[in-house]
Amino acid sequence: MKIHLIALATIASCALHAQAQQAVEVSHWWTSGGEAAALSVLKGNLEKQGVKWNDMPVAGGGGEAAMTAVRARVTSGNPPTAAQMMGFDIQDWGKQGVLADLTELAAKEGWDKSVPKALQNFSKYNGKWVSAPVNVHSTNWVWANKEVLTKSGVTSEPKTWDEFITAAEKVQKAGFIALAHGGQPWQEATVFDGVVLATGGVDYYRKAFIERDPKALNSATTEKVFHRMSQLRKLVDKDFSGRDWNVAAGMVISGKAGFQIMGDWAKGEFINAKQVPGKDFLCFRIPGTQGMVSFNSDQFAMFKVGADKSAAQIKLASAIMEPGFQSAFNVVKGSAPARTDVPDTAFDACGKKAIKDLAEANAKNTLVGSIAHGHAAPASIKNAFYDVITRHFNGQIDDKKAVVELTAAAKN
Ligand code: BGC
Repeated sequence: MKIHLIALATIASCALHAQAQQAVEVSHWWTSGGEAAALSVLKGNLEKQGVKWNDMPVAGGGGEAAMTAVRARVTSGNPPTAAQMMGFDIQDWGKQGVLADLTELAAKEGWDKSVPKALQNFSKYNGKWVSAPVNVHSTNWVWANKEVLTKSGVTSEPKTWDEFITAAEKVQKAGFIALAHGGQPWQEATVFDGVVLATGGVDYYRKAFIERDPKALNSATTEKVFHRMSQLRKLVDKDFSGRDWNVAAGMVISGKAGFQIMGDWAKGEFINAKQVPGKDFLCFRIPGTQGMVSFNSDQFAMFKVGADKSAAQIKLASAIMEPGFQSAFNVVKGSAPARTDVPDTAFDACGKKAIKDLAEANAKNTLVGSIAHGHAAPASIKNAFYDVITRHFNGQIDDKKAVVELTAAAKN
C-alpha cells in the first residue's frame, strides 16, 4: 500500500511537472526599451497561464537578421514555436509547408470577423490561418520634440513637404540636428515609404511599388522622390551611419534633434521615457500624406511543432488575439490593434489618431502595404529596393541613376 501511494504521488508530481513545463519559444526582433516593455505584456499573460516563455531575440529592425536565424532553425528541423514575421515573408514560409494550421482556433474565436481583410491576406496561406496578427504599425509618421521646435521658431505643424523642409532647416540653423536618422538600409527604406506617398500619392505608390509597373517606376515622379530623399540627407548629422533607430528616437527625446521620420514603434520609446504626446513630443503624418496610411503588421507565424508542444502554441495564438491583450500591448508598442473591435479608450492621442487614420484609410482605399516592411513585395525585391535607396542616400548614385536602378530592381 505504502509503495502504491509513493508511486501515485510520483505520477501526480510528474503530471504537475509536465504541466508546469508547457513552454513556447518565440523569435522576434523587439530588443529596444519600448519594444521589450510591450513584449513583456505577452510574456506575463502566458506565464499567468503556466506557459513558460523561451525568448529568441535577434536584434535588427525590419527583421532580416531574425529571418536568417529562423531559417537556420527550420532547416535543421527544430523550428521555434512562433516567429515574429511580416507580410510576404509569412507567405514565403507558407509556401514551404512549414507553418501550422490555426484555422480551428480562428473559427472558434471568430478571427475572420474581427481582423481586417488587409491583414488576413497575409495571415492566411491557401485559405488557412497560419499566423496571429498582433498589431498594425504605420510608417508615414514624423516624431518631433516640442521644445526644440519652439526654440527654433517653428510655431506650427508643417502641412506640406516644402513647409516641412523649411521647418527642418530652421531647426538646423538654431543649432540642433534637424533629422535624427539611423543609416541602416531598412531605416532609409522606411523614410522612403513616406516620401513616395507624399510625392506621388496612393495611386502612384500602388502602380510603382505594388504592381511594379516599369513606366510608373521609371518616371519623373520617382526622380522627384529621390530628389526629396537628397533633401532629407542634408538634414541629418554626420554620425548617422549605422545608428540604431531607437538611438535616433533618443536624440529627439533628449532634445538633441528636432524630428525623426519613423514608424509608430518610435512612440514606444517616447512612452518608455515617460514623455507625453502633445506636451513633450508631437506625432503627425509626413506632410503630404495626410489621409494615407502605409501599414505593416507584426504577426506571429506558428510553425508545425510536435504534439507535445502544440497545446502551448494554441495558448500563445489565443493570447495574442485576445482583445484585452491587444489593447494593453498596443498602448505600449505604439501600434493600433490588429482587431477592429478593440476600443481606443486606453490609447493616448497618437494612438487614437493611429486607430482612426487606419479605419479611415481602409474605408477610403488609401491604405497601402509598407515597401520597407515587407507588405508591398516579397523579400527578394524588397532587399533589392533597400540596396538602391541606401546607395542613393549615401551619395553613391545620383537621382537619375537611382530611378534606373530601382526600375531594374523591381524585375528581380
Ligand atoms: C516592426 C516593429 C519594430 C520595428 C523596429 C518593424 O519592422 O514592425 O514592430 O518595432 O521593426 O524594430
